[in-house]
Amino acid sequence: MNTYKIALIKGDGIGPEIIDEAVKVLDAVAAGCDFSFRYEEALMGGSAYDVTGDPLPQETINTALDSDAVLFGAIGGEKWDTLPREKRPESGLLRFRKELGVYANLRPAIVYDEMVNASSLKPSVVQGVDLMVVRELIGGIYFGEPKGREGDKAYNTMVYTKDEVIRIAHQAFKIAMERGKKVCSVDKANVLDVSQMWRETVEEVAKEYPEVALSHMYVDNAAMQLIRDPKQFDVILTGNIFGDILSDEASMLSGSIGLLPSASVGDNVGVYEPIHGSAPDIAGQGIANPIATIASASMMLRFALGESAAADRIDSAIKKALSEGYRTQDLAGFDAKEVCSTCEMGDIIANYAAKE
Ligand code: IPM
Ligand code: MG
Repeated sequence: MNTYKIALIKGDGIGPEIIDEAVKVLDAVAAGCDFSFRYEEALMGGSAYDVTGDPLPQETINTALDSDAVLFGAIGGEKWDTLPREKRPESGLLRFRKELGVYANLRPAIVYDEMVNASSLKPSVVQGVDLMVVRELIGGIYFGEPKGREGDKAYNTMVYTKDEVIRIAHQAFKIAMERGKKVCSVDKANVLDVSQMWRETVEEVAKEYPEVALSHMYVDNAAMQLIRDPKQFDVILTGNIFGDILSDEASMLSGSIGLLPSASVGDNVGVYEPIHGSAPDIAGQGIANPIATIASASMMLRFALGESAAADRIDSAIKKALSEGYRTQDLAGFDAKEVCSTCEMGDIIANYAAKE
């Protein structure tokens, strides 16, 4: 019997509620299989700051590094917005990514057939969308030096080394090999030196993946193409800040940010989390949509633990819950047969995912 060590970081706002549902589904899927989970909770974000004065206590880093995977809820909230930058929940998250070395952020945007009417775009544009944004996560302008403020001047620096581009490009090509065998690398090579180097380097890496069709796109055009014809994309490979922006844009193709998972991976332990935030306005009411977090748990099974059969069962269970018309309140307006609470949605998916 394999026992996987999972670090649970529930975080702030709706984080605890949605993580509880993902754990319920994980335990249901493990029952009757030859593996189980041992969970260890760790603090991050505003709730960590309130207890320890630090949004990322060292203990959390240790717990994460000592686990097979991290399942993460969400962090942040108005309550902590006025703190100095290094005490803010977001700074804890950026430091966490850096400490774990999770350089590749994988953000799939999938439009479930049942949900085509939930998108703000026409059903004909979004039906069948299935793309993956591969975003570099621990470099670029988020971390580049020098940065700072001097009198009336403020500056950040977009820096990439060749090695950083090579490793993220390999991730994108490997993922494309498992999918539609297309990579679109997004940059601003018509203006930025760093993008020119990015593009040349991606070209070099592409030679090792002759089966994958590589194209390049400027980021402004990519933002437009994602809305015009999102089905043209399979894997979008891009840097930290462009990926931050484009992945939010891509997530809305599905109509609800409450449905989409993500994975942040590197050479060590990976972090699996919904792409949405902590939604403090609805926290504690039992109405949050747990699907993005449950889908993140599925990505964790697939990518971190190699339990792809169990991951498939969760993915089918989510699809089934949606096609049967179960909706949390955020999606109540879209072909709902029954509106359910956070906990009820967890129960339904757990039931479907459990081995007969
Ligand atoms: C994200 C978020 C973070 C980012 C913030 C909260 C620091 O927007 O995960 O996309 O910019 O990376
Ligand atoms: Mg973002």
